[in-house]
Amino acid sequence: MKRRAFLRQGIASSALLFQLRVNGVEAESSTPIPLKNIVQGKGLYVGAQATKGQLSREDLGEFVANNFNMLTAGLELKWAALRPTPATFDFGGADWMVDFAAKKSMRFHGHNLCWNVSNPKWFSTVLNPSNSRRMLEEHITTVAKRYSGRVDAWDVVNEPIDLRSPRPDGLHTGPWLDMLGPEYIDIAFHAAAAADPGAIRVLNIYQVEQDQDRSDFVRRATIDHLKEWLKRGVPIQAIGLQSHIGTSLPLASESRDQFVRKVRDMGLEVMITELDVNDSHLVDTASANDRDKIVAGYYYDYLTDVVPLGKTKRITFWTVTDKFNWIDAGSSQGPGRHRPGLLDTDMRPKPVYDAVAKALEHLVST
Ligand code: XIL
Repeated sequence: MKRRAFLRQGIASSALLFQLRVNGVEAESSTPIPLKNIVQGKGLYVGAQATKGQLSREDLGEFVANNFNMLTAGLELKWAALRPTPATFDFGGADWMVDFAAKKSMRFHGHNLCWNVSNPKWFSTVLNPSNSRRMLEEHITTVAKRYSGRVDAWDVVNEPIDLRSPRPDGLHTGPWLDMLGPEYIDIAFHAAAAADPGAIRVLNIYQVEQDQDRSDFVRRATIDHLKEWLKRGVPIQAIGLQSHIGTSLPLASESRDQFVRKVRDMGLEVMITELDVNDSHLVDTASANDRDKIVAGYYYDYLTDVVPLGKTKRITFWTVTDKFNWIDAGSSQGPGRHRPGLLDTDMRPKPVYDAVAKALEHLVST
């Protein structure tokens, strides 16, 4: 039976699907193989998102350093953290994160240089159409130069296109678009290329990985914009698929696959930058065990489908442990409900960990 037919059949069958596809690996292994060892020397990089607070805990810091060869800072490189005031930079947290990666021989993925979200409060009173170009260029130049040679890839613009955009061109609304119009994207990429020509320049996108209402609109808008941007020399080198996927939707679709192929055909690299699986729609109806199996199946299938299709070399996992998961943090349902991570709240590997290990083994052996 095909995977999608299994998914339609719900929990019991999804668990079975997982068993079939990963050959019964849902049993917890007591000494799991470090993920980075599986991909070592195979041209594949596995990353984790974490914050300074999390990495400062011995258990999590060790787990991240032992299992991953790339690191993304969840908060420390965003404008809200770097820019306490319009005239100052606070590099404390960012320096710590970049140093952690260097000490542990991990590549560093810079997240991010420009986003219409997660900006300092002072934006609303300070940014205006006449100072915003200078502010954007100055920020990108300062930050990208500071870490030049230590950042493998930069998310230069995050979430440029949004499914809920009221605009016909689908561009994400917010301060940068308001102040500078669509050109803010050109400005950001040119500034990044000038400041750190050696780091891969990524346009980090979302809402294209599964089929929800208007996913096709987002995919079409992204391809149309990319054609224009590349035609006029905007130095974009890669697409980051955030990959915050959810168990409420089927995983794959022909239009997703076509989209990834089109991006590749434009000569762009395809990265997976923020992979995790949201089990929101199951929290009240399924046991933790069943949810873990379903979530693990989503991870396995997503990786084994998308990585070969996108010829993806870089895969970053956004939620290492359920203990620190951004879905609970951002939800009104309270902590401890979602199980999107590789480890449980006690830092023990979940079926997801084994599914990811199996998926990586499969990917490096084919
Ligand atoms: C999230 C962080 O994980 C949270 O800790 C923070 O409170 C909000 O941002 N897409 C992105 C990331 O590009 O920056 C977001 O990270 C998750 C969604």
